[in-house]
Amino acid sequence: MMAGMEITLNAPLDMHLHLRDGDMLKLVAPLSSDFAGAVIMPNLVPPVTDPGAMLAYSERIAAAMSGEPFSRYMTLFFTAQTEQQLRMAAETPGFFGYKLYPAGITTNSEGGVANLAEADSTLNMMQDMGIPLLVHGESHGFVMDREAEFLAVYRNLATRYPRLRICMEHITTAAALQLLEEFENLCATVTLQHLIITLDDVAGGALQPHLFCKPIAKRPGDRDALLQAALSAHPRLMFGSDSAPHPRCRKEACGCAAGVFTAPLALPRLAELFATHHALDNLQDFVSGNACRIYGLNPVQKQVTLHDTPMQVPTAYRSYGQQVVPMYAGEQLSWSVKR
Ligand code: DOR
Ligand code: ZN
Repeated sequence: MMAGMEITLNAPLDMHLHLRDGDMLKLVAPLSSDFAGAVIMPNLVPPVTDPGAMLAYSERIAAAMSGEPFSRYMTLFFTAQTEQQLRMAAETPGFFGYKLYPAGITTNSEGGVANLAEADSTLNMMQDMGIPLLVHGESHGFVMDREAEFLAVYRNLATRYPRLRICMEHITTAAALQLLEEFENLCATVTLQHLIITLDDVAGGALQPHLFCKPIAKRPGDRDALLQAALSAHPRLMFGSDSAPHPRCRKEACGCAAGVFTAPLALPRLAELFATHHALDNLQDFVSGNACRIYGLNPVQKQVTLHDTPMQVPTAYRSYGQQVVPMYAGEQLSWSVKR
């Protein structure tokens, strides 16, 4: 690789982030501070379902960022809502949209939607009010087929609510990318790990709990299609890390929790990936431009310069009595944030 490469990004955004709460929030929030902002997931225990709890959570995040400017795009856990409830949410500072989880599909989603028909009037009102719907799109089928099976639901939603902004969160298949082409009202996020790994990296050799997440990494053809779409800055594909920290003892355990922790290394690894594929010019759109255009965002001013100087990834991040193991723990990346 040519030495001395660098790129300066304007307001990079993480369009899908888990920050948790309490001591874990205090540990991980500052590790996302190279981003200008993020869409914050609501799957706390209990989930964030009302605007007051959302606002309080947003303020705890701001406190954990200790003064670092950071645009907090807050989500509420989707359940059927009245018009009055939707108005309350829409008027709450920082509100971004609703996150829909099929009931029981992943971490803390037990209270999610069991029957989409019951959500019809809510979705109609959301489309009229311009409130985005973010979706964890997996069925309860065979684990490798869950996303593919859910595509029929996306198709149904996109057809029934043509003016609803629907985001397919953390897509993992080539088939999801194809669906994106069919409906203008669909957009999607993709994680770092799903651009890089396949199921082989998770379970092909010794089991790698720190690469285990939902949706699970798929086949090489899926990974390659996602990577090509990201590298070419597909206009409706956005970076969303789905960085999902769990305490080390919950990952290195029988009954390993799902989630890959990538926040502190996502930007360096993305720069490395785009540089390797001679696509650095498209990174700005993938990590910010597309999201700002799709959702009409205006995040805080923040510039981050990445350069091809190595980053040593810690074996774990430790603070406040918490310990979290990142992707690439103990390894060296060839790009880093220029301080
Ligand atoms: O791997 C995952 N972890 N997938 C999700 O959908 C949820 C997330 C979490 O909250 O841990
Ligand atoms: Zn997530």
